[in-house]
Amino acid sequence: MDKLLIRGGRSLNGEVQISGAKNSALPIMAATILCSAEAVIENIPDLKDIRTMSKMLEILGASVRFEDNSRLVINTEHLTSKEAPYELVKTMRASVLTLGPLAARFGYAKVSLPGGCAIGERPINLHLMGLEKMGAEITLSQGYVVATVKALKGAYIYFDIPTVTGTENLMMAAVFAKGRTTLENAAREPEVQDLADYLNAMGAKVYGAGTSVVEIDGVEGLTPIPYRIIPDRIETGTFIAIAGITAGDILIKGCRADHITAVIDKLQETGIVITEEASGLRVKAPAWGSLQCADVKTMPYPGFPTDMQAQFIALMSVANGTSIVRETIFENRFMHVAELRRMGANIETEDNIATVRGVQRLIGAPVMATDLRASASLVVGALAAEGETLIERIYHLDRGYEKIEDKISRLGADVQRVR
Ligand code: EPU
Repeated sequence: MDKLLIRGGRSLNGEVQISGAKNSALPIMAATILCSAEAVIENIPDLKDIRTMSKMLEILGASVRFEDNSRLVINTEHLTSKEAPYELVKTMRASVLTLGPLAARFGYAKVSLPGGCAIGERPINLHLMGLEKMGAEITLSQGYVVATVKALKGAYIYFDIPTVTGTENLMMAAVFAKGRTTLENAAREPEVQDLADYLNAMGAKVYGAGTSVVEIDGVEGLTPIPYRIIPDRIETGTFIAIAGITAGDILIKGCRADHITAVIDKLQETGIVITEEASGLRVKAPAWGSLQCADVKTMPYPGFPTDMQAQFIALMSVANGTSIVRETIFENRFMHVAELRRMGANIETEDNIATVRGVQRLIGAPVMATDLRASASLVVGALAAEGETLIERIYHLDRGYEKIEDKISRLGADVQRVR
């Protein structure tokens, strides 16, 4: 299994190009199930999760090919299966995004129920509640959810909790439903809006995506046109943290500042200076040892994203003073804390609160990645740590960060992939 060996303590400087957003690419790939045609999606990041979703579409009978590294061509004319098998769903929860489009196109979907994962239980009850309201019969059999319906119909659906993939699944399910579907307390993430933009570009009638009320009027069919997905806001935030912790000066190119205003605002509080330039965001960090502490609470968009919490904790582990970090989205998302402690961080957790007392310096150590964003936080910490950090199980990192070692190495990091 691949590991990452990082010798920390260097300032990272230069330019980095942000890749397409993983969490936009996955639902948009699933949305191609809605058409019986060839779809072209641009700006797709080369990631393990993307390959898993490609495999999922192939299992359903689609043909999928990469062109020019970042253009994906998916042909969904001859889908033969309506079943998302356990073997794939267990490796990537986002496979559950096939449920809505399969039910919409075929009136039948059989999708393995994802189990818990490293960051929490992550149920999909709200996805199922929505499909039921749209007239689907939902049964559970041998670990699989089976949705059966003659024709989905529009419905009023209220989410107790705003759910990103839940909103996306039901938005896709509603595209061909008879009448109007209203999703209330919907997730407002830019990725939800990107999916709506894609669906609308193909002829769907989705209104209000990006707000908490999304309305969808059913249409008869969709016609694919090439579509370019948005840049990855979490990768952008991670590179701001990387510049910040290494006293660096990085130009983050091709990102969308308007998608991470909460992150920019919070990280500026720590003394990092972030300014917009024509080609992206210029991030200038304070000198080594000058970062200031800051408190944060994770919230659904437009709040501070849970997907940046781990990287923020790594950053605050070397800030002056004590930072309080509240995780409100997932119940078990502090797995990185024990690993950062192995590097000398002073962090205590109780329930959903981490108290981070800044230390002068982290010291390199062997550590283990436990999930995607936890791995990113270990990279952030390792880049500032004295000596060598060997990060094990970086397959988690490969799920969501395109060519991370090339990108940080070009910025001046001493990093090596060890097999
Ligand atoms: N929830 C329920 N019932 C449901 C669905 C969600 O109780 O039916 C709860 C969850 O347990 C959680 C909260 O609602 O407490 C929000 O979860 P959400 O459904 O929004 O998460 P998700 O859709 O499973 C997506 C991203 C995650 C990101 C979260 C939160 C994708 C493919 N995944 O997950 O991304 O952390 O939204 O923003 O879009 C990552 O990229 O590392 C990652 C984990």
